[in-house]
Amino acid sequence: MTFLAFLLAALPTLGTQFKQLPAGKGKAQVEAACYACHSADLLAQQRLTAKQWTATVEKMMKWGAAVQPADKQVVIDYLAKHFGPANKFTPTATKPVGK
Ligand code: HEC
Repeated sequence: MTFLAFLLAALPTLGTQFKQLPAGKGKAQVEAACYACHSADLLAQQRLTAKQWTATVEKMMKWGAAVQPADKQVVIDYLAKHFGPANKFTPTATKPVGK
C-alpha cells in the first residue's frame, strides 16, 4: 500500500502520463481489451487507417487481447475514428530538414 502510494505520487514527476481515452461508442470495449497490456497513450499516439487498425486489432487478438467477436468492428471503428491519419490527440511537430 505504501509502495502504491509512492508509485502514484512519483509517476507524474517521472513524466509518465496517464491519458484518458476520448468518450465514444466502443471506448468501454477498447479499455476492456487493450488496457491489460497498454495505457491509453500507446493507442492515442497512433495514426492508422481503418485497414491498419483492423490488422493491428487482429494481431493483438492473436497475442491475447480479449476482444469479443461481436465487439471487433466496434473496437476498430472507435480506434479508426479517434486515432486515424487525422488524429488530433497527437500533435506532430515536424521541421523541414536543414531549416
Ligand atoms: C496480451 C497483451 C496485449 C494486449 C491485450 C494488447 N496488446 Fe497491443 N501490443 C502488445 C505488445 C507486446 C506490443 C509490442 C509489439 C511491438 O513491439 O511491436 C503491442 C503493440 C501494440 C501497438 C503498437 C504497434 C504495433 O503494431 O506493434 C498498438 C497500436 C497496439 N498494440 C494496439 C493494441 C490494441 C488496440 C489492443 C486492444 C484491442 C491491444 N493492443 C491489446 C500486447 C498486447
